[in-house]
Amino acid sequence: MNYGRTPLDDLPSRVTICEVGPRDGLQNEPVVLPVEVKAEFVARLVDAGNTVVETTSFVHPKWVPQLADAETLLSAIEQSEGVRYPVLVPNERGLDRALDLGMRDIAVFGSATESFAQRNLNRSVDESIQMFAPVVGRAREAGLAVRGYLSMCFGDPWEGEVPVAKVVDVASRMMALGCTELSLGDTIGVATPGRVTALLDALSAAAISMEHVAVHFHDTYGQALANTLTALRRGVTTVDASAGGLGGCPYAGSATGNLATEDLLWQLAGLGIETGIDLDKMVATSVWMAERLGRPSPSRTVAALAR
Ligand code: HMG
Ligand code: MG
Repeated sequence: MNYGRTPLDDLPSRVTICEVGPRDGLQNEPVVLPVEVKAEFVARLVDAGNTVVETTSFVHPKWVPQLADAETLLSAIEQSEGVRYPVLVPNERGLDRALDLGMRDIAVFGSATESFAQRNLNRSVDESIQMFAPVVGRAREAGLAVRGYLSMCFGDPWEGEVPVAKVVDVASRMMALGCTELSLGDTIGVATPGRVTALLDALSAAAISMEHVAVHFHDTYGQALANTLTALRRGVTTVDASAGGLGGCPYAGSATGNLATEDLLWQLAGLGIETGIDLDKMVATSVWMAERLGRPSPSRTVAALAR
């Protein structure tokens, strides 16, 4: 059924979706999927038209056992022309692993708060930035694109509200390292649109261009779509989402899944915004994945279209 397209002013004509299901989604699932299933998941996402598929992490396998098969998975994937397969890399050990496999896109992942930096990276904010410096430097020298994630940009389960000035400070330090993109993480999904606007305006005032900014909303409180629309209106054109709303973060207690890609696609299609991604193929992929995980997708759009 076609329900039409009605554009709104002040929105981009095209949005790039960074599909984080295989990484942010699967890192938090209690079930560790066989590597062949993960490889098929990535292949299905690419077949659906995704051009950025965050595939796995080169972290310590004890910290995230779900992604301990990173090398085997990447060797099993036939990379398609025109598709980017970013991987998370916390330190030089991770970078070496990524370079050994010829990866072209990496992401370092910092935190705006001390509590999460300690829990996620076993380091303070300052020590994490020091750890990232040679990673970003060497990666840029080798011609790689480097995304800088910044977690807890809105609220933190141990510290509560996170001051905008603190987020801008750490964001500026991540960009000064040489990151080519900054992804703003609402790790526990507590943001609301006014706060999103305030942060984006403060980042713009600190000379961080929206061209380099992505938003990464978890949907714990059902705010991810409203927050995304707010960010698009402020000039952001890259949005992170996970197929079927998979995901969370093992080191942030109250984190649930990311914004579901299908929910985002429904909204963008209705607004006449291009993504190049086929909604029906995404729904079929999420239904398939739900069978593998033994639980239904939390995405409303998947539930509605899978009937
Ligand atoms: P550490 O224990 O402080 O590490 O962990 P270390 O440097 O002291 O090294 C200890 C051992 O780990 C050494 O081995 C290293 O070689 C090894 P040993 O000599 O004892 O045999 N090691 C590694 N092995 C494999 N790959 C590596 C690696 N690094 C060290 N890369 C570390 C520090 C950063 C490694 C650890 O804290 C870690 O792996 N953390 C990852 C946590 C994680 O992946 N969290 C989820 C992603 S973040 C997220 O989900 C948020 C996001 O979605 C945005 C949002 O929503 O806000 C991105
Ligand atoms: Mg996340």
